[in-house]
Amino acid sequence: MRIDILTLFPQMFQSPFSVGIFQRAVEQKLVSINTYNIRDYTHDAHHTVDDYAYGGGAGMILKPEPIFEAVEAIISEVHPKEGTSDRESDVLPIILLTPQGRLFSQEIAYELSGYRCLILICGRYEGVDERVRQQLATDEISIGDYVLSGGELAAMVVIDAVVRLLPGVLGSEASLVEDSHTFGLLEYPQYTRPAAYRGWSVPDVLLSGNHAQIAKWRREQAILRTLERRPELLDKASLSSEEKQLIDR
Ligand code: 6GU
Repeated sequence: MRIDILTLFPQMFQSPFSVGIFQRAVEQKLVSINTYNIRDYTHDAHHTVDDYAYGGGAGMILKPEPIFEAVEAIISEVHPKEGTSDRESDVLPIILLTPQGRLFSQEIAYELSGYRCLILICGRYEGVDERVRQQLATDEISIGDYVLSGGELAAMVVIDAVVRLLPGVLGSEASLVEDSHTFGLLEYPQYTRPAAYRGWSVPDVLLSGNHAQIAKWRREQAILRTLERRPELLDKASLSSEEKQLIDR
């Protein structure tokens, strides 16, 4: 997958992707992450990227021209066969990171992991000229109901969640299936050695070697934990009738 990021702060993207599984994914060419400084697409002597809001109000608004020109430059250099017509949004999403976007989720991460290329535009919280949303972006994503000073950290969250789903990025594909949220449930409790630490013991069932019992216990724990902490998730999870009784108790 190729990911192109438009930002005022390209340096922010260096460290997160230069360690751990992301470094390996980049080295193995499973993903390439490219940043473009919006300021490089200005034409005036001061490299102006923002301006006052029409109608007044505090805060500066990102100007449309550098953002349009940056996206168009990327498309003509990197994706010469793909234009910005409606049909092409099917192959090349142009995603604006904004608190007004659709709420990011594991489901959206899976959706985005199916594309060969993504273009991410990092807004800043005061705002982006509305024409960028209307005429350029094909999607808008928020990572939660709180305000960040810019879309950069949100873009990193989205990239992290998407890249780890790409084939070959994680060591074992099995670990994806067991992720929290993959089945709409939170994860069950996990333990490693020692079996007793400061008098706190690991549940006996996990030491029993009985794989069927262990699987049953984990599934139950996942359901009970979800009930306790995120009951609204249970509406979407698919539970057996036996499991439904567990939560009705
Ligand atoms: Cl995508 N951007 C900003 N500025 N704040 C956010 C966000 C995005 N998602 C949640 N808060």
